[in-house]
Parts: sequence; C-alpha cells; structure tokens
Amino acid sequence: MNSGLEDVIAAHTVLSDVDGKNGRLIVRGTSLDALVATSRYEDVLALLFDGFFPPQADLRAALGAARVAVFEHVAAADPALVALPPVDGLRALLARLGDGEGLSTALQLIAGPAVFAPALLRLKAGQAPLPPDPNLSHAADILRMLHGTLPSPQQTAALDRYLVTVADHGLNASTFAARVVASTKAGLTSSVLAALSALKGPLHGGAPGPVLDMLDGVGAPANARAWLEAALDNGDRLMGFGHRVYRVRDPRADALKGAVRLLAGSGAIDPKRLALAESVEAAALAILRERKPDRALDTNVEFYTALLLEALGFPRDAFTCVFAMGRVGGWIAHAREQAETGRLIRPMSVYVGPRPQEAA
Ligand code: ACO
Repeated sequence: MNSGLEDVIAAHTVLSDVDGKNGRLIVRGTSLDALVATSRYEDVLALLFDGFFPPQADLRAALGAARVAVFEHVAAADPALVALPPVDGLRALLARLGDGEGLSTALQLIAGPAVFAPALLRLKAGQAPLPPDPNLSHAADILRMLHGTLPSPQQTAALDRYLVTVADHGLNASTFAARVVASTKAGLTSSVLAALSALKGPLHGGAPGPVLDMLDGVGAPANARAWLEAALDNGDRLMGFGHRVYRVRDPRADALKGAVRLLAGSGAIDPKRLALAESVEAAALAILRERKPDRALDTNVEFYTALLLEALGFPRDAFTCVFAMGRVGGWIAHAREQAETGRLIRPMSVYVGPRPQEAA
C-alpha cells in the first residue's frame, strides 16, 4: 500500500505525459517547449478539448462570450464572500455555475476563474469590477480586468505562456480529484470545484505565495544559505523545490524562467529581485543535494511562477487563482475523458481498526 498512491496507474489518457526521469512534458503529442513557443492559451484549449467537445470555428470568440456571460455572477460577491481568501471566494462564485457536460458549461468554467478572480481582487481593493472585453485574448483580458489598463504585448505574452505551461500535467492531485468526481457523473462544475479545492493546498498549487515569502525572508543573496539552512533545521520544506514525479528539473520551471527573463528585458522585473531569486535557487539546490543526497530534489514550476505572477501585478494570495485559470482546461478535458470511460473510481482500503470482539 502506497499512501500517496505513487506508482499506481489510475487512468489511460491521451491528454498529457509527464516524463519524470527525463524532465519532459508532452501535451497531446506536442512538447512543452514547442507549445510555449507557438501557442496561446486558446490554442491549447482547442488541443485539450479535441474529441471531447464539438470543434469550434472560433474558440477565442466563444470564450470571450463566456467571459461576458459569467460576469453576471460577480453581483453575488457580497462583503462576506469578498472577505474570504481569493481562492475561497473564487470557489464560491464558481459554485454558482450549473453542472453540465457540454461545451457551454466547459467554456463558462474556463471563463470563471479569469473573470471572478480579478473582480474579487478589485472589490477587495475597494474598486468596481470591470466587465470583460470579448474582443481581447483571454490573457490580455485577465490583465485588463485586474489593472484597468490594457497590458503591454510582453505582459500578455508572459501570462499566455504561464497559462499554456500549466494547462495540463498528467494525474496530479487536483486532476485526479476532478476525475474521481467525473466518474460519479456529477458534472463538470462539481469536478472543477473538487479540483480547485485540491489545488489550493501548499503542497500543490498553493506554493508560489510562500516562495515570495521565502525571498522576502532571505532579503539579500548573501543571506540565502543561512536562511534556508535555518528553515530546514526548523523542519520546513523549501517551497518551489521537489516534485512527486520529476526526478530532474521540472521543464515548466525553465519555460517560466524564459518568460521571467522576457519581462525583465522589458523592465517589468527589478533585476535585483531576479538576482535574489537566482541566488536563492542556487543555494537551495546545493543545500537540498547535501541534505538529501539520495533524493533528487530540483526546482519545480512554482518557483518561477512566483516571480512571474508578482511581476504581472497579481497579489500573492491570489496566485492559486491564476494557476486555476490555466489548469481548469486540463481538469475539464480529464473530467470528460474519465466520464467517457463510464467507470466509477472506487479504490479499496485495508481496515486496521479493532474487530467487534476486540473492541468489546
Ligand atoms: N524541501 C525540503 N525537503 C523536501 C522538499 C522540499 N521542498 N521536498 C521533498 N523533501 C524531502 C522530504 O522531507 C522527504 O524527506 P524524508 O524522506 O527525510 O522525510 C523527501 O524529500 C521525500 O519527500 P516526499 O514527501 O516523499 O516527496 P513527495 O514526492 O511527496 O513530495 C512535494 C512532493 C509535495 C511537491 C514536495 O517536494 C514538497 O513539499 N515541495 C515543497 C512544496 C512545493 O513546492 N509544492 C509545489 C509542487 S509543484 C505542483 O504541485 C504544481
């Protein structure tokens, strides 16, 4: 029995392949490198949805219309909901979307995080939420709804690259949660809500906020080793490092480091912040190698996510919401794939409690 289900195969999928030994990610036949070089988020959605939903001549327009449609639910964001952590507020608003299995439910679920998270953040800041602009790309509209101004082409490209990079990743915890719910035929909204609940944990999609807390704690490159050693002595894990499947560097870390460098080139990232991150990364890798020589612990996707989303102006408590904006595409495709198998997921447990005669 592996309590983390490591090495257990629970699905056949055509969606993505996480090659942990060689540090490669393939999404529907295309490697991550090729995907981030050529695709926008809408292209990756079309790829993920292929065969699971009827093809759309203009997915970008359909998604723009879905953003406009879901904006009406922002009116339900009362003060108690706005006071919640952003990911919990997002979950509450997403729960207002009805369950269904079709493309219109799917597109509303993709639109939901993109529209609800910026609206909640603006409400928290005492600003009015901005309605979507269906003519913009998904990434550009997210940034516009957050900041109230049109993003630069570099900012849009950086967010697009992030959304593409995280769109799907094998049978991670949130995707598995989505598939378990889909296997009961509860519907796509229920699957996405289960997945979002799994994503928010700090061992999964909740890590990038704490990565920035770590950078702030370190403060200057010269402090990196001492600060990280003290954190490990305290029993803490170093956020943004280690992965269940990758035994080498997570390929998504480099895809995002590329986006961070692009932003730095356009002046959107303070070079000192980038230098601090690079020295913390180098020190963390060296210390983890010393302390865990038989366990390959390398940089994961969350490390450079943190820098990227900070540079794009997302507050750190909303980073998990931005992760959900991308990963929701994968959750939905996996939910459809699972539902199509028609098979309920129902594993077994081994009872280790007392038997009635022992309990008496
Ligand atoms: N810092 C310090 N030690 C670590 C780290 C880390 N980041 N990651 C793993 N280890 C250690 C563990 O303490 C453990 O040591 P032990 O055997 O002495 O107890 C050993 O390495 C193996 O750890 P596991 O828990 O078996 O590794 P697992 O495969 O379950 O962990 C996980 C994967 C949860 C991602 C882990 O590496 C971690 O907690 N990382 C920090 C949080 C993080 O960055 N999460 C984002 C992951 S990416 C994503 O989900 C999108």
